[in-house]
Amino acid sequence: MAAENNLQAIIAHAKEYGFVFQSSEIYDGLAAVYDYGPWGSELKKNIRDFWWKSMTQMNDNIVGIDAAIFMHPTTWKASGHVDNFSDPMIDNKDSNKRYRVDHLIEAFADKLKEENKEDAAKSLLSEMEKLEANVDYDGLKKLIIDNNIKCAISGTCNWTDIRQFNLMFDTKLGSVTDEADTIYLRPETAQGIFVNFLNVQKSARMKIPFGIAQTGKAFRNEIVARQFIFRMREFEQMEMQFFVRPGTEGEWYKIWKEERLKWHLSLGISADKYRFHDHVKLAHYAKEACDIEYEFGFGFKEVEGIHSRSDFDLKQHQEYSKKKQQYFDADIDAATGKPYGNYIPYVIETSIGLDRMFLLILSNSYQEQTLTKEDGSTDIRTVLNIPAKLAPNKLAILPLMKKDGLTEIGKKLLEECKSSFKCFYEEKDAIGKRYRRQDAIGTPFCVTIDFQTQEDNTVTIRHRDSMTQERIAISEVKNLVLNAIL
Ligand code: GAP
Repeated sequence: MAAENNLQAIIAHAKEYGFVFQSSEIYDGLAAVYDYGPWGSELKKNIRDFWWKSMTQMNDNIVGIDAAIFMHPTTWKASGHVDNFSDPMIDNKDSNKRYRVDHLIEAFADKLKEENKEDAAKSLLSEMEKLEANVDYDGLKKLIIDNNIKCAISGTCNWTDIRQFNLMFDTKLGSVTDEADTIYLRPETAQGIFVNFLNVQKSARMKIPFGIAQTGKAFRNEIVARQFIFRMREFEQMEMQFFVRPGTEGEWYKIWKEERLKWHLSLGISADKYRFHDHVKLAHYAKEACDIEYEFGFGFKEVEGIHSRSDFDLKQHQEYSKKKQQYFDADIDAATGKPYGNYIPYVIETSIGLDRMFLLILSNSYQEQTLTKEDGSTDIRTVLNIPAKLAPNKLAILPLMKKDGLTEIGKKLLEECKSSFKCFYEEKDAIGKRYRRQDAIGTPFCVTIDFQTQEDNTVTIRHRDSMTQERIAISEVKNLVLNAIL
């Protein structure tokens, strides 16, 4: 299936089966804003919980916080977002359509690749990165013109100069519509961590190196919002800032690069689908940075960023707040024989988009399988082979019929399991139809309760991916599922 069609199929499936809906759909929707339905909100929560556990439970030197979305406006002045959080944009004079310059050039490079002009695409992208790194907007415009990159709507090459547009949404606090009361919807969760650095360090008695993790909403007025939930205006981030002794940041950057890739691979996703992309153009705060990219149907794209942010943020907050952001390190420096003393820590950040990870899981698990029936005819099975620990429902309990005591047995199993993991209970429709519905929402196990169950306390358990069925004791069901979702 073509890449674009595959995304269209995923979008349609996500809507039909209650994963993702367009926001305010009855009013024709709101661009680049989405709502998560019954199974989508479960999957999203499971991804968030898996990340949270891997950070705050599996590392005894990482703690979590939950900071407010609204922050003092000076936060964003100090962080550089008021002055620097902008994207270079270019408008087509004939269609009045605005493009992010990098997206326009990348889309053209993708077209070159489709035409098997790999080298031309590579050199175009590397030229773009060089020009971006030098903030050379005239050069970028020339690159667009020289390559005859056209607007998809007007089909012309009639471009304005390149200008910067800030991506932050602003709003007013309270009733006064005064300039001074303008506050921003946070464009990243990271700053909530930085401004609480000393509160957390002191209250939780943390010693460097240590990390602070947070998940939560972030908002960006993306000009070009594309590819479903890949680029949204309201989205969720899962970020961790790891505070280290200056001079050790290179080593920690490498460690976190490896750790984060391991986290992705621990979900059983093929390593071929991932790659690192080292940044040439660094964000205003970064010393070193890379993306973990996943190969979506529409190409390798960023899912997570790992950034060596130096002491930039804490230093800036110290300067703007006039409050010291130093840590006293009592450990002995072998070189001097004295304690390291006071310093502003350096920071390694890991930042992953929850919605993007959700799209990754959907893309990686969506399959349309052609099955051959006994009579030789074929049938299509749509299945989401979501890793069991992330699946919205872990177990479907399906009494064959709503009579002869089968309901009671099913409900008893449900009671036994539901406090340990999420179950789905259903009595209606033919069993084959019910299996297919569970396949479509990614339920890894279905148990069927039939008349034999009454006789020998066994059930048929069906495995989603292999579709194999086996007969096991009903008393073994809970443990079998628990072992699979560990
Ligand atoms: N604190 C650093 C930071 O925010 P970023 O690379 O701008 O870095 C981190 O964002 C991650 O957040 C990205 O890798 C991506 O997964 C996610 N993200 C960023 N913008 C997004 C958007 N408009 N829609 C969905 N996810 C987004």
